[in-house]
Amino acid sequence: MKSQYVIAANWKMNMTLEECEEFLDKFKNLLLDIPESKVIFCPPFSALFTMNVLLEGTSYVLGAQNVYWEDKGAFTGEVSAEMLISCNVSHVIIGHSERRQLFGETNETVNKRTMKALSSGLTPIMCIGETIEQRNNDETLAILREQLMVGLNEINSENINKMIFAYEPVWAIGTGERAEPNQIAEAHHAIRNVLTDAGATDAASIPILYGGSVNGNNVKELLKIKEVNGYLIGGASLDAKEFVSIIHQTENHIKE
Ligand code: 13P
Repeated sequence: MKSQYVIAANWKMNMTLEECEEFLDKFKNLLLDIPESKVIFCPPFSALFTMNVLLEGTSYVLGAQNVYWEDKGAFTGEVSAEMLISCNVSHVIIGHSERRQLFGETNETVNKRTMKALSSGLTPIMCIGETIEQRNNDETLAILREQLMVGLNEINSENINKMIFAYEPVWAIGTGERAEPNQIAEAHHAIRNVLTDAGATDAASIPILYGGSVNGNNVKELLKIKEVNGYLIGGASLDAKEFVSIIHQTENHIKE
């Protein structure tokens, strides 16, 4: 069987508890059967517990937006894998460009967080992507390779095979300026090759998502790119109607 499309909502620093409830009310009413898609909600930490209750009995799963590499202790502002698991979290975004650019995350800290997630049984969604300067300097593929090789340092092939990756060109995030299909296909192809170099034994079946200004109007074009196995969506995932439209278009495309 072909594997499911992964459609992940990164809510970033948005959504109070009331807003989560309102969103899910609308979302559940609009959404029909979606056998071809795996939907992952990544709300802020403050909403994980409530979201777990709201998602009970559905097939949608819960992701967090980061995880720390220590088990517990004096690490103000961080969250442990065990804490996430106690909220029924199964996935975790690691190395988002906003973490790298605004909060000093490096490929090395991404590596430590990823190792902790894996050893705890969480599925990491590792984000990588180039800035516009790097793209203009023709450094995109080298940057992706470095982010992956350092990020995956000392992670064995069995674990790499379990992960999800998200290609998010920094210049396409929140800008409305989606990357072109050929740019996305080239990056995804390169990422898959690096995953094999890093030790993945089955890189073809590892989900590589695209993120950066995905919305209900451009998803059809993205679905034509065979290297893309799903999306990581920011802004458009905050609107239940638009998020549902993206999922429905995905389902219809696969059934066609
Ligand atoms: P936008 O969909 O708002 O561009 O954000 C993408 C993103 O950063 C998902 O992680």
